[in-house]
Amino acid sequence: MKKIAVLTSGGDAPGMNAAIRAVVRKGIYHGLEVMGVYNGYQGLIEGNIHKLDLGSVGDIIQRGGTRLYSARCLEFMTEEGQLKGIEQMKKHGIEGLVVIGGDGSYRGAMALTKRGIPAVGVPGTIDNDIPGTDYTIGFDTALNTVIEAIDKIRDTATSHERTFIVEVMGRDAGDLALWAGLAGGAETIVIPEDPYQLDDIVARLKSGHERGKKHSIIIVAEGVMSGNALAKLIEQHANIETRVSVLGHIQRGGSPTARDRVLASQFGARAVEILMEGQGGLAVGMRNHQVVDYSMTEAFQGSHKTDLSMYQLSKELSI
Ligand code: F6P
Repeated sequence: MKKIAVLTSGGDAPGMNAAIRAVVRKGIYHGLEVMGVYNGYQGLIEGNIHKLDLGSVGDIIQRGGTRLYSARCLEFMTEEGQLKGIEQMKKHGIEGLVVIGGDGSYRGAMALTKRGIPAVGVPGTIDNDIPGTDYTIGFDTALNTVIEAIDKIRDTATSHERTFIVEVMGRDAGDLALWAGLAGGAETIVIPEDPYQLDDIVARLKSGHERGKKHSIIIVAEGVMSGNALAKLIEQHANIETRVSVLGHIQRGGSPTARDRVLASQFGARAVEILMEGQGGLAVGMRNHQVVDYSMTEAFQGSHKTDLSMYQLSKELSI
């Protein structure tokens, strides 16, 4: 293998730049030429492909977002789109591809592998929802962003003796809400992985109020319902007025934490090694603190496992 390419796809995540840097530098270190595909699979279809040298990835390890830009591309889900992408890769002499993104992005990578161009997946999403890996790039940074917000909200919640609802991202997964809730000392966490019990939430709020606790923080994962919808329910059933903070896309931005930079560097480098070994259709991940690789099919056929013991712990610690 002499020439590989890298792209970022789906929602951006802090640390994607560190992963791009790792792919480029690891590739060049081993004598490969590395191309950057801009705008995800859309750029692959359109041939928006340019050479990346050592300097082109300088000064990006600390930056959020992705210097290759990202997009969600429906056309690449079709056979026609994939064939167009392959044509562009052949035109540029690209023999292997590293795809940094979520499980949706892995489907495109798997399709390319099946059509004879080995592609490797690197998990990049704040949602931490990719089956087969304990962590995804961007999760830790987003988590710290949420915790910072919770800490600030708690100041005003305490001063005004109010109940706050904080809606966090995560798509269909509750990891971000769960970890942030535990680390931020939230009184209640509502996640998709646990059947949502309004009665339980109301009972906890009421018993807290009776004990004289007039402020509390409820974290709700967007995969369950919106913060505003939950606020309405709580007002109706507990007669407690709440304030809602929807954290939104600030969770996707910011300088990556040390942990995300390290993870991204390890994942990016391992992805290049896999391509150099002549393999494709694999995803890299972290299991029990070890970098691993596994079949990409597992990543989009399996289901992500949220650590529900943390959920129980948060309940025990927030009585
Ligand atoms: O997958 C990352 C993510 O931020 C999810 O948490 C969220 O549901 C979604 O992307 C938002 O997508 P968009 O940026 O397209 O609004």
